[in-house]
Amino acid sequence: MSSNNQFNSKIGLIAATVGSAVGLGNIWRFPAETQANGGAAFLIVYIACVLILGVPVMLGEFTLGRAGGSDAVTDFRRLAPRTRWWMIGAGSILVAFLINIFYMVVAGWTLEYFINSISGNLFTADTSAQFFTTQMQSSVEGSYAPAIFTIAITLINISILLLGVQKGIERMSNLMMPALFLLLIMFCIVSLSLPGASGGVEFFMKPDFSKINSTVIINALGQAFFSLSLGMGILITYAAYFPRDTKLTRTAVTVSLLDMLVAVMVGLVIFPAIVSFGMHDASVEGTSLVFVTMPMIFTHLPCPALWSSLFFFLLLLAAATSTISISEVPIRYFQDTKRMSRRRATLTVMLPILVLSAVCSLSLGPLSGYKLLGMNMFDLLNTVTTNYMLPLIALFTCIYLGWFSPRNLLSDQLTNGGTVKCRLKLAISFIIKWIAPALIALIFISQFL
Ligand code: PHE
Repeated sequence: MSSNNQFNSKIGLIAATVGSAVGLGNIWRFPAETQANGGAAFLIVYIACVLILGVPVMLGEFTLGRAGGSDAVTDFRRLAPRTRWWMIGAGSILVAFLINIFYMVVAGWTLEYFINSISGNLFTADTSAQFFTTQMQSSVEGSYAPAIFTIAITLINISILLLGVQKGIERMSNLMMPALFLLLIMFCIVSLSLPGASGGVEFFMKPDFSKINSTVIINALGQAFFSLSLGMGILITYAAYFPRDTKLTRTAVTVSLLDMLVAVMVGLVIFPAIVSFGMHDASVEGTSLVFVTMPMIFTHLPCPALWSSLFFFLLLLAAATSTISISEVPIRYFQDTKRMSRRRATLTVMLPILVLSAVCSLSLGPLSGYKLLGMNMFDLLNTVTTNYMLPLIALFTCIYLGWFSPRNLLSDQLTNGGTVKCRLKLAISFIIKWIAPALIALIFISQFL
């Protein structure tokens, strides 16, 4: 999407928004969170969060963006002049910046895995979990390799952003998203036909409700917001480019369902494989689900290096469409409000990210001794932004929309000025006004009790 354009087609609009939503959050973060939070219990709460809170909050962001027509801060300044509501926009720009720092690190690992897949280094005669775990540890905890790949991927991002070829990225994501879907379907089939796969399906799909507690709920909420790219100003920024006749409700529902579908498919690939490979009691956690389990699945196919290269390539693209969208938020802000050139704005945002994400990439290895609140830099950024800042920003967005925005703002946007029907209008307004703020606040407070 170029800076002063509208999306040309409905498919392009959906692809760009889905491109932002589908990323490492679905493939790397979702299975890790599911595993850490009790499997199916987490899945249920996550789906509920997406449907009950995610879709309406997404619609709230679309409303602000299409009505405001600019970056996240300017939109609030226009809609609520002479108030402090612009601080919500400022908060989302800050979170976008912080998320970018650790997201680049994971994108860096993905780049390394892609390169190691093409070169064949990842696949030797040894196909044991131990071998792949050692490989992953050297990528994630290595003394300097993580920094090199993080810097490389950040530089690639900077060059794309400088060239302003978002249009190209968008066109590519039109092709790549379906390709990612097809590959995932294939891997699902492989994984589900492994011996003992049903144990994994059970872990992922058969809920044990006694496992639901406040931690599970807050993590599911955080994951839903992260995965839908909510609370980061992205959807506000993108919606400024939606044509007047775009049906917001249909768009939000489509994007959310597709995003959820990708996450569920990834779960159906990963969990059966873990059980089948007998890795469920080993201390496999988080990152290893993608960087150990997936390569092990590939060894069950002819030409593992080929599938692995394809998978990590698509993962890189999925990551790129997301990082481009996150980077765009602060860059657009500097361009619009500080009157910077595209180049200057890009470098102002991305050079600090380059340095900070390189430091962050070492925080799981050589710098792991430096902790704040008991967490290294990577975990701190990941947890604080996702579990606290995103829901908080969404909370204030709902409070603004539900209680303080110009009358009819939401209903005008949902019905395109009264020209289309929106059957869910009342429900959505009600959720934004009452349910979402109450639930988000409750979940928040329960953490500190
Ligand atoms: N939603 C993206 C994902 O799931 C992550 C993302 C985060 C995208 C922040 C943009 C901004 O990977």
